[in-house]
Amino acid sequence: MDTPLPTWPYPRLIAHRGGGRLAPENTMAGMRAGAEHGFRMFEYDVKLSKDDVLILLHDDDVDRTTDGKGPARNMTYAELARLDAGAWHSPAYAGARIPTLEEVARYTIEQGIASNVEIKPCPGRETETGTAVALAVRELWRDAPVAPLLSSFSEEALAAAHVAAPQLPRALLVEKIPMDWRDRLVQHDCIALNVNQKDVTPELVKAVHGAGYRLSAWTVNDPARARDLLDWGVDAIFTDELATIRPDA
Ligand code: G3P
Ligand code: MG
Repeated sequence: MDTPLPTWPYPRLIAHRGGGRLAPENTMAGMRAGAEHGFRMFEYDVKLSKDDVLILLHDDDVDRTTDGKGPARNMTYAELARLDAGAWHSPAYAGARIPTLEEVARYTIEQGIASNVEIKPCPGRETETGTAVALAVRELWRDAPVAPLLSSFSEEALAAAHVAAPQLPRALLVEKIPMDWRDRLVQHDCIALNVNQKDVTPELVKAVHGAGYRLSAWTVNDPARARDLLDWGVDAIFTDELATIRPDA
């Protein structure tokens, strides 16, 4: 008999980096775009500034998504907060700022939107980022009805989050599905495996569910593929295409 699946209080559609392609990623403008399109869960990437403030940023450096240059790990929060994180996307978003995790927590909790906090450490800061994110999430969401799902490609960060706040739900993010995925999920006491959507087959869904874990898939931008994955029973998909892959479609 299959192992029962863990509780999954999350919607099946997740807006990737907040606003997908519609607005600058990992910004408050992105979050608002996601909410306006009816999304009830956001994924976003969180790391530490040089002076230990948890901020939203995908890359190791700020070059692609801001008007600044260089590695985020060498910049204080005050320096990061001065950057324009919107103009790269489109003129309408010029002046958007890099938000803190705290700002995003306040907004999402107020809007009743669930979160997947992806722990995306600056190189070399895996353990401290995992610990900092887990402790901050536990505190910021302490009165919220649904706890964020913590995830990471960094098993070091995930292990640290596990130690710091064992009660928070965790997902292991993988670029490629390792042979020993079950052992790794057990090791980090995860509730879900979070894979590249290209690797999903009906057999994989069956195997992951059969082992007692949830399965989510990033990043699905083709509506027909999204339909297939959901039909196969994938528990959640991440999308950038908020206008065509809609929660109400
Ligand atoms: O968390 C799912 C997805 O965001 C992982 O990839 O590179 O977009 O953070 P990436
Ligand atoms: Mg991410």
